[in-house]
Amino acid sequence: MLGINIFNHHLSNPLFLPSGIINEIGDHKLAFKGGAGCVVLKSITIEPREGNPFPRVVKVNHGFINSVGLRNKGLTKSIGLICDFIKTHNKPVIVSVFANKRIDFERLVNTVVQLKPFAIELNLSCPNVEDEYGSMVSLNNKISGEIVKASVAQANRVPIITKLTPNTINIGELASVCEQAGASAISAINTVASGMFIDIKTKKPVLGMKKGGLSGPAIKPIAIAKVYEIYERVKIPILGMGGVSTVEDVIEMMMAGATMVGIGSAVYSYGYGIFHTLLEGLNTYIETNKLNSISELIGIAHEK
Ligand code: DHB
Repeated sequence: MLGINIFNHHLSNPLFLPSGIINEIGDHKLAFKGGAGCVVLKSITIEPREGNPFPRVVKVNHGFINSVGLRNKGLTKSIGLICDFIKTHNKPVIVSVFANKRIDFERLVNTVVQLKPFAIELNLSCPNVEDEYGSMVSLNNKISGEIVKASVAQANRVPIITKLTPNTINIGELASVCEQAGASAISAINTVASGMFIDIKTKKPVLGMKKGGLSGPAIKPIAIAKVYEIYERVKIPILGMGGVSTVEDVIEMMMAGATMVGIGSAVYSYGYGIFHTLLEGLNTYIETNKLNSISELIGIAHEK
């Protein structure tokens, strides 16, 4: 009853671990053990990245601000680890890739498809690398569309998902551009750019980079609105996320239009057991409301 269909596959449940919550590839098994139906790995880049100065994460009221700086081992080292992980676990693993130019996205996708992942997510929306690369790719619809098209051409039919920023003016329009360019799904939302926390004792911003992407319950109403807007404009499935931490949040996100629901910051707050707790709550909801399947919830907030 909790199963959902996406990309012509059946997943045991709609809950997944979004990109960036776990850094080390092997540790994603903990999310599977907790009950996640699918995991998205932390974005990889062509070159290794050390990450931003510490501290990189700070807890604030109702959320977190982070500026990790896409710390990762780079394509060459990551590929072996990802390959081992996919083979060992035989579960749906989505590989996230980040680049600042089309040609680098093409190269990343071209290499990653050889591992036959469940899908590849293009991170078009990291809030923390602007100094190096100019503004976020997904603030520009035209460039986003070009990157999606070029990536799909390299993907050998592995589904391409595009992860969008909530900071764009018209996310429905952007999602539609990505769909027309061949994307198989939309992930939304990435963290809200940007948040800052100043320690009034030191009189200084706490994070090493001063600012970072805001996540957690503070952004949930934004996430719900953005997923709702996207659903109005596209036919492809939506991976909805942003501050989801309770059973009611999951239901709300699906009613807004999400086929799969990401549980990210809540894993920091409650541990991997949260997947199990939410799944139990969803089962109870289905029974109480006499649904045949959880997928009956998808998009019902749009029915007139
Ligand atoms: C980072 C990347 C993201 O996509 C995000 O939303 C927040 C932080 C990072 O690695 O800095």
